[in-house]
Amino acid sequence: MANIDELLATLANPKEGTEGDKESQFELDPLDRVKTPVLSKAVRADLDDVLIQFNNKSKYRSWGLNYIRKQGTAILLKGPPGTGKTTIARWLAHRVGKGFKMLNIGHVGSGDAGGTEKHINQFFADCAKRRNATIFIDEADSILLSRKLEGIELSFQLGTTNTLLSNISDYRGLIICATNLEEMLDEALDQRFLKIIDVGQPDYAMRCALWRAKIPTQFPLQYDKRQFADIAKLELNGRQIESAILNLGLRCISKTIKPTIELLYQEAKRELSKVINHVRSIRTR
Ligand SMILES: Nc1ncnc2c1ncn2[C@@H]1O[C@H](COP(=O)(O)OP(=O)(O)OP(=O)(O)O)[C@@H](O)[C@H]1O
Ligand SMILES: [Mg+2]
Repeated sequence: MANIDELLATLANPKEGTEGDKESQFELDPLDRVKTPVLSKAVRADLDDVLIQFNNKSKYRSWGLNYIRKQGTAILLKGPPGTGKTTIARWLAHRVGKGFKMLNIGHVGSGDAGGTEKHINQFFADCAKRRNATIFIDEADSILLSRKLEGIELSFQLGTTNTLLSNISDYRGLIICATNLEEMLDEALDQRFLKIIDVGQPDYAMRCALWRAKIPTQFPLQYDKRQFADIAKLELNGRQIESAILNLGLRCISKTIKPTIELLYQEAKRELSKVINHVRSIRTR
């Protein structure tokens, strides 16, 4: 996660997206490329609730719920890196079926006064025109920074957060925000989310399911499903499980050896010890 200075610098130096990029971002990934997330029962139940408003409109209306919330819905997925937030967002967008568009600070940021607000308003207007496409605000903490944070009093950052909040409230489609730094988010957001869903680290049962789901059917590993009982005790998340399988595959191909469950266990343990000693701040003051 970049610090505040770096984030503000990104605002002043937006990366230009091409027109082609803009168009394709409204399209959903082909269905065969959408990963089905492995979910806890609680998370699955929350996601199913969210989908009712979009996929079961007649009941929603006949129960009068549209009088309470006619507009769209915003939800927050929070949880550590690699636990499936982005995967869930893409999967949800597919279930809603109206296209998918990511809001990226690099694309809407502008160094000109009022420029960022203008781009944000334009972004939401474009999404509204595209059948209220599902909007994904990944790393929401970097764009919806708390207005109370030190160093955030700059008027253009305040303007950005205010403009986003009002667009989020008025939007008629699904908005999914994701963060692994919830403490950085603006306080006004809490009540704007219909649900705050804690994706969290997978538990033992989910890890068993992840191991089973992630080993490709073509992968030449002979195993009995019960053999995951031990490997699933290692507290890896989905990304680390994929990485262990990939590393095993690469090692076996390069050494022309057969993958075994013992070698997979070794790769899984290596994932656990793969730690970078991160610098917390680049300021030395
Ligand atoms: N619960 C899960 N179900 C299925 N796949 C998962 C799950 N968790 C992680 N993965 C896999 O691990 C990889 C990383 O997942 P993803 O990008 O969705 O995580 P994230 O929570 O968005 O991480 P970050 O906070 O770093 O953005 C993906 O390839 C994804 O398929
Ligand atoms: Mg992500």
